Amino acid sequence: MPRFSARFSGFPAYPLAHIPARKKALIEAGVDVIDLGAGDADLAPPAAAVAALQRAAEVPAMQRYGFGMGYVPYREAVAAWMERRFGQSFNPMTEIVPLLGSKEGLAHLAFAYVGPGDVGIIPEPAYQAYLGGTLLSDAQPYIYALRPRTNFLVDIDEIPSDVLSRTRMLYLNYPNNPTAAIAPRDYLERVVQVCHERDILLVYDNAYSEMGFDGYVPPSIFEIDGAREVAIEFHSLSKTYNMTGWRCGWAVAKPEIASALTKVKSFTDTGQYMGIQAAGVAAIESWAEFVPQNLETFKTRRDAAVTAFRANGFAADTPMATMYLWMPLPEGIASAHFADRLREESGVIVLPGSGFGAGGEGFFRISFIQSPERITEAARRAGALLNVMVAERDQAIGTRAG
Ligand SMILES: Cc1ncc(COP(=O)(O)O)c(C=O)c1O
Repeated sequence: MPRFSARFSGFPAYPLAHIPARKKALIEAGVDVIDLGAGDADLAPPAAAVAALQRAAEVPAMQRYGFGMGYVPYREAVAAWMERRFGQSFNPMTEIVPLLGSKEGLAHLAFAYVGPGDVGIIPEPAYQAYLGGTLLSDAQPYIYALRPRTNFLVDIDEIPSDVLSRTRMLYLNYPNNPTAAIAPRDYLERVVQVCHERDILLVYDNAYSEMGFDGYVPPSIFEIDGAREVAIEFHSLSKTYNMTGWRCGWAVAKPEIASALTKVKSFTDTGQYMGIQAAGVAAIESWAEFVPQNLETFKTRRDAAVTAFRANGFAADTPMATMYLWMPLPEGIASAHFADRLREESGVIVLPGSGFGAGGEGFFRISFIQSPERITEAARRAGALLNVMVAERDQAIGTRAG
């Protein structure tokens, strides 16, 4: 049996990878499963995107390799949208990088910027691509726990100076998955300033930029003065247009940074199918008709989720953005234990905070990926289990004390 590399042998398991198989088994056993796990909504993509893909499938030139350049109208549509949405102008050919979903770009970027002896600052809980890219590059992750104490922000001024001096990359994601936190502008200004001073690449994951509620409009990092010198921003069609499986996103940065990512990718992929990129153009161009009404659907679900989980004994803050509720569990109830029991005993899939790294312990996440009625039913089942687990915990404490 060929041996694994030392790097691979030390690699952590990808969290929560067992859930799809358990979901399938439960459904086959006849359980009425309510899946509020992955951020993968049951909603349709824009009809224009589906039609564009259908048309593209008939075009022979679209069947060929897209290479790094990809489908040029996609680059142009992205650049035009960045200008319309954030007032930021970018050169479509040198400052936009088409991606096969933003995840691969987030992970691949590390190959260009960190190696042995370098530090990447990784928030925790967080999307696991940041940690993956850092570890695959043999760099050292510096884990910063996102807790209510800092409003789930990475307080860069708390990071020891000797760590900052070895840091080459800082990953930030606001609006945040899984905590739903948002970043105030003065916070982003401070981060950009420190990245300048320390020569750190700021990797700004903006996958939820179009999911702000109640008048909150998430910014681009490039709206912050000086960000162009130090930042790269990632965008995705996955959440904005309900296109998770299509694998379509982009990165945007000044040419020196963008071309570094393109160079890494030229060794690992040969571009997204151009038909998908043509569909991406149609999606982006449908923003005005599609996104506000899609967001209304998520808002209705958010409101139902907050009401129902509160009514069933959970402390749920109303999130200003994203498709998630990040709720604390009572002391002494481990998040993985709660999520496992909820799935196996009540057929409700939620994600345990510990699945996003140890810093997420004490919380669990639900996604607004089903109807308000189903979310309400899930909250009822979750509340019933919570009562059982709290009673069991209290009894165990009583037994120990007695
Ligand atoms: C914070 C964050 N970044 C990036 C992604 C990846 O999106 P994509 O589907 O574009 O790879 C996700 C998906 O869940 C996410 O939550």
